[in-house]
Amino acid sequence: MIHVSPYRRIVYSSRPVGDDVRADHQAILATSRRNNGMDGISGLLWIGEGQYRQLIEGPADSIAEAFERIARDPRHTDIAILDDRMIDAPAFGEWAMAGLPGDRPSDAEARLRLLLRNSEDEIRRFFPVT
Ligand SMILES: Cc1cc2nc3c(=O)[nH]c(=O)nc-3n(C[C@H](O)[C@H](O)[C@H](O)COP(=O)(O)O)c2cc1C
Repeated sequence: MIHVSPYRRIVYSSRPVGDDVRADHQAILATSRRNNGMDGISGLLWIGEGQYRQLIEGPADSIAEAFERIARDPRHTDIAILDDRMIDAPAFGEWAMAGLPGDRPSDAEARLRLLLRNSEDEIRRFFPVT
């Protein structure tokens, strides 16, 4: 019998810490692309000024493991879970980042808008998009 893991979605906010946040973003991007693809995790990481907001969704086991790693990462602090629920199906096809190293804040906002253009209010409400 095939076991199909249920899906889970976590949204959290946190704050970057460290003296080379830009290098951290580059490293987080590379690691996340590699891991999330393998783990079947999709969603997005928005990097605002002095804040992170991330949505990760995928097989419940993968999400539990990924969030455990993320939560003890010293590159951010003040992690606050905004939403944590089981879902029927993922809303995003892949994992993406809004606010790449070198981006201006306005670029990050534009990309965030693009990534959320087809999302329900249920998801949009966690991000600064209008
Ligand atoms: C704000 C933030 C978001 C992160 N997002 C992810 C993520 O989506 N997936 C992931 O695997 N690691 C993410 N990380 C990195 C993890 O904390 C951890 O460093 C990484 O998963 C370890 O993977 P490795 O053992 O393959 O190097 C994030 C870190 C931070 C600070």
